[in-house]
Order: sequence, then structure tokens, then C-alpha cells
Amino acid sequence: MRTVFWADGVVRMIDQKQIPWALEVVDLHDHHAVAAAITDMTVRGAPAIGASAAFGMALAAHTSGAQTVAELQAELNGAGAVLKAARPTAVNLMWAVDLMLGIAHRPGYASPAGLKVALLTEAQRVADDDVAVNQRIGAHGQTLIQPGDTVLHHCNTGALATVDYGTALGVIRAAHEAGKAFHVLLDETRPRLQGARLSAWELEQLGVSYDILPDTAAGFYMQRGEIKLVLVGADRIASNGDFANKIGTYQIAVLAKENGIPFYCVAPTSTIDPAIASGADIPIEERDPAEVTTPYDTPLVPAHFKARNPAFDVTPYRYLSGIITEHGIARAPFTESLKKALAGETL
Ligand code: MRU
Repeated sequence: MRTVFWADGVVRMIDQKQIPWALEVVDLHDHHAVAAAITDMTVRGAPAIGASAAFGMALAAHTSGAQTVAELQAELNGAGAVLKAARPTAVNLMWAVDLMLGIAHRPGYASPAGLKVALLTEAQRVADDDVAVNQRIGAHGQTLIQPGDTVLHHCNTGALATVDYGTALGVIRAAHEAGKAFHVLLDETRPRLQGARLSAWELEQLGVSYDILPDTAAGFYMQRGEIKLVLVGADRIASNGDFANKIGTYQIAVLAKENGIPFYCVAPTSTIDPAIASGADIPIEERDPAEVTTPYDTPLVPAHFKARNPAFDVTPYRYLSGIITEHGIARAPFTESLKKALAGETL
């Protein structure tokens, strides 16, 4: 099943808050509900958020009673603003909304009906492309995994974080499908536990050998020489290769460099933001401190204890061995290689 899809005039998505305890699909009947599902992380992971926003725009058109094309276009501008405000860091969200607005404002629609069809067609294309792109990423990246390796992975970048297949976890899946036997260490990824809950759930189903680690244990296994490769995803990659990813990524990158371990970011080109020069320009989401003190309604400390909860951090490009994209592996200097990737050139 895909993470997010269109069915009979509604957007359907797997409720990731319930996994691994239950596999539930929720129906979303308007774009406000899609935005709320992105904000409360019913759906999460940069490419999955992007595809959800694309379907959210198609849904805004589908549910509109606008009588003219101009009226519908104006409504879609508003829907785009609502969706873009759902979460700030993953650029795939802005990318998908802008793509849909580009389709919406193309000249030549004879009626609102024609525009509605065009938007749904484009949203389906975004979703289908995501799967195909991830499979290409997997094919490029799996060459880095050798039989017998132990690979460290952070957060969840698998089928759930995308429409299907995954990025960094997609590389792991591709290596497994290529018949390689290796082991994966999954950072549990406090505070929302995407590694322990979602990545472990996915690797269970794929039959990939894994262990969940407390986030604080990564350095221990690196120092012992057990980790051969680190694979992480990205929410936004700046032109110079600096990238934002799930909180904790930066400290893993520093530890990997200290221990001489290759460290790769894995992402589709839709995660590259060519408008920003460096990671300093990436907006970082700070979420409710209750996610730290009371994760999933489980009180760890008294309710009045104080906490901070940055959802992402920025890893400077100098820690990267490379960025695995659908066009191949981008290497330093990233200002050059990422430009080529964005132009669709083979790396
Ligand atoms: O807060 P989340 O769960 O949306 O954060 C997800 C990540 O940081 C992923 O690593 C990133 O979105 C890439 S997913 C292919």
C-alpha cells in the first residue's frame, strides 16, 4: 500500500502515529485536513509530505464550487498558503505546492472542470514519480553496501517517508533485494521514535537484519569499528550541500568523520533548494515540548518540567562523503554537482 493516495474524491493516507501498533488509513476530505495531517505528523517524511501537499491541492480544486477558472485559481492560491504553512523545513512541501500552482495558472483552461482534472493528473504524476525516483536512488546507492557491513540509519526514510520504497532506507532495501546480507542499526530517533517505530516496522516486513539503538549509542559502535557506513535522509539541501535532516543527524556526522566512516545523505532532487546558498538559510521547525516530556501521551517526567524540541538540525557539507540522488552520487564540490543533478545530468 502507498503511504498516500487518491481514492474516490478523498485523499487517503496511512496514519503513521499508529504504527507499529496498528495499520490504519485515514480519509481526508479537504485541504485543511491534509494540512492538519502534515502538521500533526499523521504523514511525515519530506517526499511523503510533498506528495500529500500535491494531493491536497488536487483536493482543494475537487471540493471547490468556483464557477470560473479565475475564481478557482484564487482559491488554490489560498489552499497553497495553508498547505505551505503546515511544516516549515521540508522543501518538498513548497516544491509540490509551487508545482501545482504552476499547473493551476497555466493559460488555456476553458472551465474549472478542466483545471481540476489537470491538477489531479499532476498529483498522481508526482506520486508515481516519487516511487520511480526512489528506485533509481536505491540502484545507485546500494553499490555502497558490501556483504557483511553494518549500516547506521537515522529516523525513518523508508516507504512511509515517501510514497513508496524510500530514500536512505530504499538504498538498504535495494541492497537487500540485490541479495546482500548485512546488518542495519536503527537510531531510535527521539523524541518521536521514527527509527524504532517506523523503520523497524519496515525492516521487519522486508526481512532485513536490524537492531534498534538508543540515539546515544551510535558513537559507541562507531568507536568499536562496527559501523561501516552511515545513510541518512534530508528535508532540505542548500546549494552548497549543507542539509537539514532529523535532529541528531549533525552529531552522527561529526562522529562519523571522527571515526573515518563514510557518511552519505540520500535524497531526490526535489529536496534540493537552489534558492538558498547554505544551511544557515534553512528554517528549522521547533515542535511542542510535550513531544519530549510526554511522547505519545506517555509521561516521562512531571508535566510542568521544561523541554525544548527542535525537529531538525543542519549538517555542514564538509561532513558528507556524497549525496545519493536519482541521477547518481553527487560529490564535492556540491555547488557544481548539485547543479548538474538539478539539470537532470547523470553524475
Ligand atoms: O519529522 P519527520 O519525521 O518528518 O522527519 C523526517 C526526516 O528527517 C527524514 O530523514 C527526511 O524527511 C527524509 S525522508 C525520505
